[in-house]
Amino acid sequence: MMNDNQKPIIIAIDGPAASGKGSLAKKLAKELNYDFLDTGALYRRVALNILDNGDDINDESIAVRASLDFNENLDVKTLEDERLRSDTIGSAASVVAQFGKVRQALIDFQRNFGAKASLGAVLDGRDIGTVICPNAQIKLFITATAEKRAKRRHKELQSRGINATYGDVLAEMQERDERDSVRLNPHLEPDHQVNIIDTSDMTPNEVMNVALDIINNRS
Ligand code: C5P
Repeated sequence: MMNDNQKPIIIAIDGPAASGKGSLAKKLAKELNYDFLDTGALYRRVALNILDNGDDINDESIAVRASLDFNENLDVKTLEDERLRSDTIGSAASVVAQFGKVRQALIDFQRNFGAKASLGAVLDGRDIGTVICPNAQIKLFITATAEKRAKRRHKELQSRGINATYGDVLAEMQERDERDSVRLNPHLEPDHQVNIIDTSDMTPNEVMNVALDIINNRS
């Protein structure tokens, strides 16, 4: 793809939990040789730091302090911690992500990540195309029904030997969707020019091909 103005190409991928946006983002970054940032890991890390300290995840001032501390001493290696991947930490992340000051503390790192990429960067999250990189050349919104997302997550948990019923996974997902909804979290208002891909009845390969078509045909 042409890189106009010598600026890195930014691909913004947003969407709800377990929509497949993370796997797509990783695969696209690999295919295009772009840098990749999973921005959910930043919120997960802040949440895990709070819980590791034995603090209350619902306390806004604690969450804001934790996000500022994290931002000051940011070590990207800490984003690879396996503990970040649990649904409990995903839910805790959605609690701290409701605080505007927490979001604010994490903006610069995300923007700089895109700006300093050599060829381009793929960022996945919830507000990449709207708040973090509103000028992204490509904006994708990856979604699927809550039932399909819960089914995929349930299968993934089972394959990792983690015990959970489908009903519990679905309930947890709906709870997180509600916290991540525009009603409760206006920071997550979707972009109107975004390309929406509903992956409910698609295989990961089909999703990848649709995304590549959009990228290759961008005007
Ligand atoms: O994408 P992931 O499931 O890792 O994100 C965990 C939580 O972090 C989300 O449910 C959402 O509340 C929050 N988040 C966010 N903005 C982002 C990325 C994640 O609010 N850009």
